[in-house]
Amino acid sequence: MSKERLDKLLASTGRWSRSEVKRLVREGRVRVDGAIPAAADAKYDPETAAFAVDGETLRLRAHIYVMLHKPAGVLSATEDGRGKTVLDLLPEEYRRRGLFPVGRLDKDTEGLLLLTDDGALAHDLLSPKKHVDKRYYARVSGTLDEADRAAFASGMTLPDRLVCLPAELSIVSSGAESEALVTIREGKFHQIKRMFAARGKNVLYLKRLSMGTLTLDTSLAPGAWRELTEAEEKNLK
Ligand code: URA
Repeated sequence: MSKERLDKLLASTGRWSRSEVKRLVREGRVRVDGAIPAAADAKYDPETAAFAVDGETLRLRAHIYVMLHKPAGVLSATEDGRGKTVLDLLPEEYRRRGLFPVGRLDKDTEGLLLLTDDGALAHDLLSPKKHVDKRYYARVSGTLDEADRAAFASGMTLPDRLVCLPAELSIVSSGAESEALVTIREGKFHQIKRMFAARGKNVLYLKRLSMGTLTLDTSLAPGAWRELTEAEEKNLK
């Protein structure tokens, strides 16, 4: 990687602004390869140099990937005057880095949401041409049967003429309320709710379980998050 200014490199962590980095350097609190740098505009290669502030070693990464268990009642937007967004659930340093959600879940939908500042990866995961599988658990009103499974599998045309790609409906239980696992390969607005509505069923609860190779960590409670492991990040790419 090419050399970059120290203030830019440290500000990229989202923890300090560039002017804060300048002050830290002046106060002698920054070390690069164990030595006090001459100035905040000195240039270093982030691949090879080791950076520390107040004795804490910093990880300088090109991108950040966060898995969030989105709770119901929170918007999948970066900013919204009308309510709490998923970014409000993350620490300030991530917001400063410009993290954004990869795709949207409805306000009342729970489950797996990936947030990143890696625009290229987000583009790939969302591209309709890539057909990335998204798997959901759904609880719906009414009974589900073979005709519903066949309709999902055949690629439904909704009453508003929206044509859906073939989807998998795996019925978990059927009764006055039914449960199912649904896999879709696209992400049109309210898609699962609209597909069930076309079969005369109301979605009562919806949770995303996975997206491509990435599966929601069951140890994350709604509202909790963690960064992806190296293996998860590699598989996703
Ligand atoms: N389909 C929906 O209807 N809502 C979601 O949040 C996701 C998929």
